[in-house]
Formats: sequence, structure tokens, C-alpha cells
Amino acid sequence: MVYQRNDVDGLDAAILMNPEVWKASGHVTSFADMMVDCKECKKRFRIDKLKEKKCPECSGELTDPKSFNLMFKTQVGSVEGAQQDVYLRPETAQGIFVNFENILTTTRKKLPFGVAQIGKAFRNEITTGNFTFRSREFEQMELEYFVRPGEDEKWYEYWLQERLEWYYSLGIRKESLRLREHEKEELAHYAKRCHDIEFMFPMGWSELEGIANRTDFDLKQHPQISGRDLSYFDDATGKRFIPYVIEPSGGVDRAVLAVLVDAYRTEVVKDRKRVFLSLSKDLAPIKVAILPLLKNRPEIVEMANRILDDIRGNYRAVYDDTAAIGRLYRRQDEIGTPFCVTVDVDSLEDGKVTLRDRDTMEQDRVEVTKLKEVLGKKLGI
Ligand code: GAP
Repeated sequence: MVYQRNDVDGLDAAILMNPEVWKASGHVTSFADMMVDCKECKKRFRIDKLKEKKCPECSGELTDPKSFNLMFKTQVGSVEGAQQDVYLRPETAQGIFVNFENILTTTRKKLPFGVAQIGKAFRNEITTGNFTFRSREFEQMELEYFVRPGEDEKWYEYWLQERLEWYYSLGIRKESLRLREHEKEELAHYAKRCHDIEFMFPMGWSELEGIANRTDFDLKQHPQISGRDLSYFDDATGKRFIPYVIEPSGGVDRAVLAVLVDAYRTEVVKDRKRVFLSLSKDLAPIKVAILPLLKNRPEIVEMANRILDDIRGNYRAVYDDTAAIGRLYRRQDEIGTPFCVTVDVDSLEDGKVTLRDRDTMEQDRVEVTKLKEVLGKKLGI
């Protein structure tokens, strides 16, 4: 999204910004959920998640709905009583908009161009859960792609496809992903259109990423409070205008969770269940495990460690001899290691090792002198 394109730069903006930023963006007034409390058990619920008008936990009576802002507050300033309330950013996007003038003057980019940012965002979610799916502190990855007004629909369609391709490139199966367009009443206060990329999680289709047409909303809002001009000068016409913005906004945690869920496979091998994580080779944290067939034979252990030393400068490789070979294979299968290399008694004689594939469990004998090259080709490194 950044290094492999000419039209996108990366940015690392602040988490704590001037609180006026969140007034301009609309978050102080609009970034809220309608909540009710149970008068009996005192639990709090989002009204849009309730199926009935009574407490889902104890059937108690509920209070009238109240608006609950999702931004976390803290204070800056050292003098008690003279501190100023500030917010932990609820999205990374605004850091890009308030830096728009700096970005234009330092990168000399011409439309269309994008600015991308990965970083922590914080939301005081009432109900967290589904493992890491909804958390109060999470990692966002957002792109603000600035375009000429009138070209926004074209770029919107472009980014829908481009972002789907990105998830496919992580190895997620096509049938596990879908696009869902937001209904009018569902749209955020800044959006003209929005599609979610959804993944088939165990709890059902759920959002991985939103792709929104934010129009010129943000670049028009900030100058109203800061007084700074955020328009773009068009060399061709000599005129200034406010660009439109297409925003793909995803959650890193959700993407990782989807990759793990999609890669989790089970099968029965010789009447026993085998679990393996069919991670793409690029994402597998450990690429190769070197395993000795017999850990009490010093020559085998020494040969295995020589192989490890030889390959591990290039990618992550590990050595393990803490169980029998069948168990060692299963452990690596479960964490998604694409290849295992086994050193056995024959290896000492013929200089060959067994190379085992995680997904097919096929085994090949490979000469140690060619192992690095063979692994490099298979891993695409
Ligand atoms: N700038 C637009 C924006 O923030 P959003 O739909 O509120 O849009 C974007 O959030 C993405 O951030 C979501 O698609 C999701 O992947 C992730 N996200 C939002 N809230 C989250 C939470 N509480 N826990 C984990 N990820 C979250």
C-alpha cells in the first residue's frame, strides 16, 4: 500500500492532538452510541444490539437511552486544576487531515495521491469481545486517498477492488470475503458512500474494513476551527479547490484474526486428527524447523545445528528436539511453519535430509549442499 506504489506516502502522526481537532471532525458531537442501563443488575448495553426492551442478562427494567461518547479522555498540563482535557485518537485518519498542508509542501505530490498510517486507536467500547475482534485499544491501518472532485466515484470503485485483492494476497480464500454496501441510515456523518469488506468469522459475517467516500468533509471542517487553508493548488488551471477523499480503513487486529481463522485446517491422518495452519509462506512467522530424528546422537544434533546456522541469516528458522518426530511435526503444523527439515542416521552417510511440506505432508530427500537454494525457491526469498 505504501512502498510498492508511487502515489502513497506513509505518516506517523500523534495520538494526543489538540482537542479542537475532534470538534472539527465531528467526533465530539457524533462519535457516540446510544446506551441503556439495567436498573436491576446495573449492566450497560448498546441499544442497537438489544433484541428486546428488557435486560438480556436478568430481564430487569432498562433506563431511557443515553448518548455515550466513545472517546477516551486524559489531561495535559502539570498544574492541578489548570489541565486541559484531550482525547486519545479514536481513528488515525484525522492526523492525516490536520497534516495535509505539511504533506503537500514536503512531498510535492500531485492529485491523485494518498497518505497512509498504521497506529493505535482507542475507543471506549461497551462490549468488547469475540477474542480480539472488538477491543478498546486496537491497531488501525488507514489510507486517505485525495482525488479531484468528480473523480471520486471512479477512485472509490478502484479502492474497493484493490483492497479486496490485498486480503486475497494474504492468502484469505475468496469465498471467505464479501463486500457489503452501507444503507443510507448506517452511513457515518462524513460519508457519501461506504462499503465494508466482511469476513466469514465463526460468529458470522463481520467487518474487517470500511471503504468510504468522505467527500471534502474533513478538509473543509478543519479550516473552520483552525483558520488554516487546506485547499490544493492546481498548476494546470491556476485554481484552488478542496480535494475529495476515498478512505480504506481497516483493523490490523481484525486482519490478523481473519488470516488465522481462514488458515486453520483439520484433517484425519491415520485415524488421528491433524491440525495445521495453512498460512501463506510470507506470513508464517517461522519458515523452517530443523529437527533431529535422534537427539541422543551427537553427530545428528551437530549436523542439524550446522544447517540451522547456515540458513537462519536469511529468514526465521528454529531447532527443536524436545519430543519424538511425529509430535515435533504436529507442533510446527499448528503454528503454520511451511517446511520441516529432518536429519537422520542416513543423513550422516549420504549427506541428504528430509524436507517435509506442511500442507501435503509430502517428503523429499534433498542434498544438504542444495538445501538453502531449494528452500529459497520454495519460500520465494
Ligand atoms: N476512519 C474511519 C474509521 O475509523 P471505522 O469503521 O470506525 O472507520 C475502521 O473503523 C476499522 O477499524 C474497522 O473496520 C475495524 O477493522 C477497526 N476497528 C474499529 N473499531 C474497532 C475495535 N473496537 N476493535 C478492533 N478493531 C476495530
